[in-house]
Amino acid sequence: MQNTPSVQVPTNNLAQNEEYEGKAKIIRVLDEQTVLVKFKDDLTAFDGVKKATKKGKGHLNAQITKILFSYLQDKGIPTHFLEQLDDTTFRARKLRMIPVEFVIRNYSAGSFVRRYGLSKGMKLKKPILELFVKSDALHDPLIDPNVAIELGFLTRDEYEKGKLYSYLINDFLSQLFDQIGLTLVDFKLEFGIDQEGTLYLGDELSPDSMRLWKKGTQKSFDKDVFREDKGEVIEAYEYVYRRLSEINDFQPSPPEFMINLSIRLKPGIVDAEGAVVKRALTRLGLTQLSEARVGKLIDLKLSATNVLKSLETFAVGRTEFLINPLIEKSEISFDV
Ligand code: TMP
Ligand code: ASP
Repeated sequence: MQNTPSVQVPTNNLAQNEEYEGKAKIIRVLDEQTVLVKFKDDLTAFDGVKKATKKGKGHLNAQITKILFSYLQDKGIPTHFLEQLDDTTFRARKLRMIPVEFVIRNYSAGSFVRRYGLSKGMKLKKPILELFVKSDALHDPLIDPNVAIELGFLTRDEYEKGKLYSYLINDFLSQLFDQIGLTLVDFKLEFGIDQEGTLYLGDELSPDSMRLWKKGTQKSFDKDVFREDKGEVIEAYEYVYRRLSEINDFQPSPPEFMINLSIRLKPGIVDAEGAVVKRALTRLGLTQLSEARVGKLIDLKLSATNVLKSLETFAVGRTEFLINPLIEKSEISFDV
């Protein structure tokens, strides 16, 4: 199978000064490194089937995105946000976007409820990450991470880092919304890669891309107000914006996360320990055994507010004393 993604993100193929008008935003390429992101007043739902224009919506989403991206950036999550230009526009880092959406769910709602026949509003034992292919034409189908990697939509490293960031963002945002009496039910993230190969959180973070319920109820303060005709959508977004702008310098408690590192000898390197295991198993009667190789697992539990810093420290350690890069290879995975 050819590993060329069949799903293309239109903004990835723009030349300088070219722009792409999406459903809720316009992206224009400024130069090699930066783009302009303009938020529109348009609202769509159900893959663009339901449409409306609500005056002030672009402004509200631009401001909410700016507040949330600045908050996350301060906690060590790299986002594409650079600077606000006006009411509805900001400058952002130019990224090659991954054609996969990362959705985190804390409570059952939306397509999760429909897909598995659940009741709405169940608190999940732990946050669940789901990946979706970014394609309105295909109706954003759910995709297994291994399939997405196999099809070349993203690499395993990008998936692992995206997963870690998604869980950490969930932790940071849930605590922030809790401060203003809202429950973060679920949300969608999009990641992209800059020219140096660094993964950044891109797109937006607004009531268009998340579900927020008044604490202890299922009263929506997000796009469900529009999807399900539950009232005045602008009033809901204004409430979120007003309450978020009242908070300053909120310091969440540091999230905990796990780093699992597996270390194996490179193929072709003689494995003396593996040979011992092979002999023992053969003696026990496992005669068809052609090879046994032995590796190491290192599980680390970390608690850190500045995630990026602890990851950098770890990345250095990983090559300096945990592995011998001449004869060993390592694979990293993250969990919460
Ligand atoms: P879902 O329940 O429809 O799968 O949506 C989960 C979350 O992701 C919800 O907060 C809305 C958000 N979302 C988007 O931002 N864009 C989309 O295209 C979809 C389908 C969901
Ligand atoms: N984001 C999609 C749309 O704009 C789906 C949705 O939000 O319901 O159509």
